[in-house]
Amino acid sequence: MNDWNARQYLKFEDERTRPPRDLLAQVPLRQVRMAVDLGCGPGNSTELLVERYPDATVIGLDSSKDMLRQARERLPRCEFIEADVATWTPEEPVGLLFANAVFQWVPDHPMTMRRMIERLPPGGVLAAQMPDNTREPSHVAMQEVASRGPWANAALAEAARVDLPSPDSYYDLLKPVCQRVEIWHTIYNHVVAGPQAITEWFKGSALRPFLSALDATAAADFLEAYTAEIARHYPVRFDGQTLLRFPRLFVVATR
Ligand SMILES: C[S@@+](CC[C@H](N)C(=O)[O-])C[C@H]1O[C@@H](n2cnc3c(N)ncnc32)[C@H](O)[C@@H]1O
Repeated sequence: MNDWNARQYLKFEDERTRPPRDLLAQVPLRQVRMAVDLGCGPGNSTELLVERYPDATVIGLDSSKDMLRQARERLPRCEFIEADVATWTPEEPVGLLFANAVFQWVPDHPMTMRRMIERLPPGGVLAAQMPDNTREPSHVAMQEVASRGPWANAALAEAARVDLPSPDSYYDLLKPVCQRVEIWHTIYNHVVAGPQAITEWFKGSALRPFLSALDATAAADFLEAYTAEIARHYPVRFDGQTLLRFPRLFVVATR
């Protein structure tokens, strides 16, 4: 798949940074010595950690070179490392593992979360947020357009993210190795500039696997068909704006 594109991702920086703010607000740690931002992207979530824990060593980790380039430019005093969340293991004890909008991209991520929690020191925290929007029209439309256009093929059929597990199953897997596990959903209604903006939003995230499987002409046609579908489900409000309904799942696990 093509690399992530930091510029595309940051077109909606304010909206995308609200969930990590809400997640961090629920982290029950007054101080930490070391925090790692898993899937740090362009450093927007890492910056929140630096602001909350100014005395901590804050490290960002990501698998995308473009995201890491942007993050290093933004926070030159932080360390950023290129690694895969699925296999990375901290070399020393980390008090806070922060993972905003990354685990949904990691196959079998609940087991990765558990493996990471098992390596936390007592009282250490893993805080994660994942979009829980695979049943939203925005995502159903991706699959529908993928299955009906001239581009329909096996690669596109597998491009959609799978549903997240239920809150119960996270709890049952993580609680045996935690003092406390908090799980909740928040549904955001992001105000964006019409249906085209919803396409732009997902070009920076969930549409990437679909677009990577298409050549430039087919990708443009795919996006046109997708935007038409989006316009049917996300009407323009009286002021020209559109509300993007966006459910997200939060997990804060304390070792
Ligand atoms: C949706 S962005 C989240 C960025 C940032 N944390 C935020 O709060 O906005 C997801 C990031 O996870 C990274 N990513 C996806 N899969 C990964 C993996 N297996 N290992 C490390 N990083 C990964 C992507 O490169 C991307 O930068």
